[in-house]
Amino acid sequence: MKGIILAGGTATRLFPLTATTSKQLLPVYNRQMIFYPLNLLIKAGIKDILIIVAPEHSGQFLNLLGSIFDKFDVHLEFKVQKIPRGLADAFILGRDFIDEGNVTMVLGDNIFEDDLSDKIKNFQAGGMVFAKQVPDPKRFGVVEFDENNQVISIEEKPAEPKSDWAVVGVYTYDKNVIEIAKNLQPSERGEIEITDINKEYLKRGQLQVGKLEGAWLDAGTYDSLLEAGNVVKERKIYENFDPMINEAIEIFNEELKAIAKKRLK
Ligand code: TTP
Repeated sequence: MKGIILAGGTATRLFPLTATTSKQLLPVYNRQMIFYPLNLLIKAGIKDILIIVAPEHSGQFLNLLGSIFDKFDVHLEFKVQKIPRGLADAFILGRDFIDEGNVTMVLGDNIFEDDLSDKIKNFQAGGMVFAKQVPDPKRFGVVEFDENNQVISIEEKPAEPKSDWAVVGVYTYDKNVIEIAKNLQPSERGEIEITDINKEYLKRGQLQVGKLEGAWLDAGTYDSLLEAGNVVKERKIYENFDPMINEAIEIFNEELKAIAKKRLK
């Protein structure tokens, strides 16, 4: 299993905060946002991770993450997405990286309270996504379940949602996702949609949708960014970090302090 974090995009809803840095490098309580999806993948035992970034922020991602796992058994790669073509672009940009294996893609601005490690580790084939009940389903991909929890339909941003279950930003697929993504046509808003990938797996009878129990935070607006920080602090979500990530960050902090001291001399 390989991992991808989609951390590009334009982040217009967070202007002007994102005029100077990437959304995924903004702080969520005591960590940059990107550490949350990174933690999800590392906790699930994934050691090969591709981070997709926008060109204007690529240097900042390298400054933070370029050597942070040097002493650990985690391999990070970076790829620039020149134009934000949509979430499904992750599998086209990442096609050589995914190669013949399975892949879990996480959105760089999504934070999960649930521990999804076992589900990701046990994944075999097809597609696996998760859903969470939300008050405003029209903004999301919406899943309709029958009484036996089987998926009936998935629709992207429906005007009349058939349920309040929104698909959240963590997606696990087998290698067929590359071919499916390559064959997608852009939607009316000009993006290649991950919902169309999910619909294809559903059509093939190969899509499983799990229901989340804990908090799901999508830190893309002023309010949700603030809420994410507050929820992470109140529910101590930062305590769920894999000890390896904490150690890597600690070593990195010490290095930064040592460099700062040298500069002061
Ligand atoms: P969005 O929040 O849908 O888009 P955005 O980040 O550009 O923000 P806004 O709507 O405020 O302009 O994207 C969800 C995540 O996916 C986020 O981490 C950015 C990332 N993304 C890409 O990396 N490439 C893309 O082509 C798109 C559409 C999103």
